[in-house]
Amino acid sequence: MIGVIQSLRFFIWGGSIAGIHRTTSPNSHEVFLDTASLSEIREVADLGILDGVTTNPSLMAKEGVTDVAGHYRTICDVVQGHVSAEVIATDYEGILKEGRELAKLDPHIVVKIPFIKEGVKAIHTLAGEGISINCTLIFSPAQALIAAKAGADYVSPFLGRLDDIGHEGIELIHSIREIFDNYGYHTEVLAASLRHTRHVVDCAEAGADIGTLPHKVIMGLFNHPLTDKGLEKFLADHAASQKS
Ligand code: E4P
Repeated sequence: MIGVIQSLRFFIWGGSIAGIHRTTSPNSHEVFLDTASLSEIREVADLGILDGVTTNPSLMAKEGVTDVAGHYRTICDVVQGHVSAEVIATDYEGILKEGRELAKLDPHIVVKIPFIKEGVKAIHTLAGEGISINCTLIFSPAQALIAAKAGADYVSPFLGRLDDIGHEGIELIHSIREIFDNYGYHTEVLAASLRHTRHVVDCAEAGADIGTLPHKVIMGLFNHPLTDKGLEKFLADHAASQKS
């Protein structure tokens, strides 16, 4: 049966999987910060739990960034890991130009390209040049499949925005995981638009390779009343034992 499915795939897609860069799949779940704020990035990097950062044009605008190249270089210096930098262009030639410029800024830059026809075409070209790509604005399993086929190293499915319109965003992660596993795609599932702790846990359970979290969501992971209460009691018991 698998053979039939594989053959079907080769018939439909022409058989080429050229452009996929990753040859190994990481077994660890990675935590990214979804922000362009340097203070937030430095704070989480200091905790020793930061694997990467994702930005988008809205997050860059929120920080009032004017020196885009300088800002990305600084983020890369702090993070020393994946830094997604999104193109603004929406035409093929424009995406290529901007993507190449972004990729030259630092070896940690991953060029983020929206899932549009011109974007998919540009992904194929840039991936062929060895540039690492994160395909963003993924809202369906079929989009993720095409992005992987084009050679994206990462796909960014947006959970929260699907939940916002009454869908079950987590279903998208399950479906993409299953499809990538069916065919051995090494494209990583970078779960995005995460709004709260439940999203983080659900994505990890669904097998997302990476979760990108806003600063407040990361900080929310530290909150548990029983931890606070438990620590208070430990310290009180210790203090009491010292008095006696
Ligand atoms: C990250 O890659 C996305 O741009 C981001 O997670 C979108 O999040 P939002 O839906 O909260 O804006």
